[in-house]
Amino acid sequence: MSAASGTVRRSIRLPSGQTVPVLGQGTWNLGEDLQRRADEVAALRLGLDLGMTLIDTAEMYGGGVAEELVAEAIEGRRDEVFLVTKVLPQHASARVTIAACEGSLRRLKTDRIDLYLLHWRGNTPLEETLLAFESLVGEGKIRYWGVSNFTMKDMEELVSIAGGTTVAANQVLYNLTRRGIEWDLLPWCKRQDIPVMAYSPIEQGRLLSHPALRRIADRHQATPAQIALAWVLRAGVIAIPRTGKPSHVRDNRAAWDIILTGQDVAELDRAFPPPKAKRPLEML
Ligand SMILES: NC(=O)c1ccc[n+]([C@@H]2O[C@H](COP(=O)([O-])OP(=O)(O)OC[C@H]3O[C@@H](n4cnc5c(N)ncnc54)[C@H](OP(=O)(O)O)[C@@H]3O)[C@@H](O)[C@H]2O)c1
Repeated sequence: MSAASGTVRRSIRLPSGQTVPVLGQGTWNLGEDLQRRADEVAALRLGLDLGMTLIDTAEMYGGGVAEELVAEAIEGRRDEVFLVTKVLPQHASARVTIAACEGSLRRLKTDRIDLYLLHWRGNTPLEETLLAFESLVGEGKIRYWGVSNFTMKDMEELVSIAGGTTVAANQVLYNLTRRGIEWDLLPWCKRQDIPVMAYSPIEQGRLLSHPALRRIADRHQATPAQIALAWVLRAGVIAIPRTGKPSHVRDNRAAWDIILTGQDVAELDRAFPPPKAKRPLEML
């Protein structure tokens, strides 16, 4: 999205040519409370209705419970969804990655994962995990593979190994209070044409009472969450906010249409300054 041109970006092209919506849905902590389950399924399904068809989950979330919830939400609608899940680094050896992927497929009740990410870097050599990913692609169990929480150095190493340049995304922490990637990782990924997915785009709700956000939200007759989300989206990254509430899904979808002005962006820069030097990659 570009504030200057007044247009809102709807999708991003992966290196393969496939396009995915820039606004998706996260699932961390969903599915863990039986009393909230119906609302959470309804929220994810509403998100699909509203075009937020990229769903991000992980084998880690609730020990597989979030993947099971996603299965329920996408039942009968698999072809509408771009499904992202993640393998834990302790499962990233060649043999265990295959088994972990099969576990995710079983819980997701599907025959394919659209994007399979290494959740963060562990001790397994990247070459070995890549071989497993390539074999899963060959079998049609995953369509694309990517990484998460990879630093600049990790990315440089990744693209230097055989097959590494086929990485389809790096999913990292990015929001108004976590701008470190703007220093090097984000521009580097853009130059390499590697999509970035921003996780915790509203800082798990912690930034919502900030006065600058409230002020700008008032100007747009919007909520602070919507402004935080609109700000992430204008960076040309994929954002995956998580909510278990249908009303918040509607709000998040509406954030997609908010065009921040130059004045809004300048005020946000003052309240949440961009990095002035390299910072270590933050993780949640
Ligand atoms: N790769 C990784 O290592 C990694 C790490 C963290 C997260 N992730 C992924 O990124 C997704 C998003 O990150 P996150 O879950 O950490 O945090 P987040 O999306 O920044 O924030 C989620 C929190 O914000 C609230 N919320 C959502 N929309 C709202 C709205 N419109 N108005 C007010 N509150 C709103 C939610 O509560 P309600 O339910 O009450 O709306 C929830 O408490 C995760 O679910 C997960 O899929 C990946």
